Amino acid sequence: MFKESQSIDTGRQAPETGGASQYNPVFKFEEFENKRLSQKDKELIYTEIDSAVQMTGKATADGREIFEQVDYYNKTTHDRNFFTNNRNGGSVAEMLFNLPEYLINSKECKKYLAEKLNNKVIYLFGGGDSIHDLLTSKEFEPELFINFDKYLKDEDKNKSVNSKYHSYPVSASDPSIRNGAINGTLPKADEIWATYSVPFYLDSSNDIKGFFSNIMLSLNEGGTARIHPLTFQYKETKTDNFLSRKKAFMDIMKELMKDSNYNVKIIKTTKEGHTLIIQKLKTTI
Ligand SMILES: C[S@@+](CC[C@H](N)C(=O)[O-])C[C@H]1O[C@@H](n2cnc3c(N)ncnc32)[C@H](O)[C@@H]1O
Repeated sequence: MFKESQSIDTGRQAPETGGASQYNPVFKFEEFENKRLSQKDKELIYTEIDSAVQMTGKATADGREIFEQVDYYNKTTHDRNFFTNNRNGGSVAEMLFNLPEYLINSKECKKYLAEKLNNKVIYLFGGGDSIHDLLTSKEFEPELFINFDKYLKDEDKNKSVNSKYHSYPVSASDPSIRNGAINGTLPKADEIWATYSVPFYLDSSNDIKGFFSNIMLSLNEGGTARIHPLTFQYKETKTDNFLSRKKAFMDIMKELMKDSNYNVKIIKTTKEGHTLIIQKLKTTI
């Protein structure tokens, strides 16, 4: 279907309390980058992920007519900025890269972001009409953005002035994404971002599994997926409830912990929630 162990020390003090999952705005975000985590580290991280998963009750639009679903999501907050905090919860840079707004213009942050963004293929899962400021920025030069958003209604036509940008109305769990990345009709992703979208808006365990398969099979070697926050619905359907969704997710985490091709990490990036990081390691390390 488709045609087409770094750490920056800002000088801020970390909070006294321990635990890697404590809110800690000092950048120690990707210190594991391209270093394989030990099995012992991974077991600890698995436990941290287990206790970071949150339950929320906000309903999805599943079961409604498609035009109603589109309207439903169009009324949610779907236009977050990348650099600045224009909505509740934080900017996308804060959620996904642990870079709060008041530090974003520092030399270190800009250097760090340039390494992460320039010449990169970036997938947005449930990107809505967000990150206009990054898409129109003259400072950074990502190669391509692809937004997979099943319910996208209106998009600002001026948002991709400086960036190559495409959007497709498919679910983040849709097999066409992994198939496209495998057969080469889609470029593989260096970065995959999901903010306040999926897995939260996925009602079925099967879709949650499909979403993570898309991540694992679409990431380039050395690529990173970032998901914030780590919440699942408690809504009961014929086949699922919060516990079955969490179990599907934790089973995937268990598999990832055993797989030496991936590192996984959980960080408390904002006061509201955690960010899950999945990195596909380069085979050369
Ligand atoms: C609350 S908005 C967040 C949008 C954007 N990520 C942001 O932070 O501003 C949730 C988005 O998820 C999208 N969405 C819901 N279910 C989805 C699915 N199964 N696959 C892809 N996107 C989905 C909605 O259409 C909506 O744009």
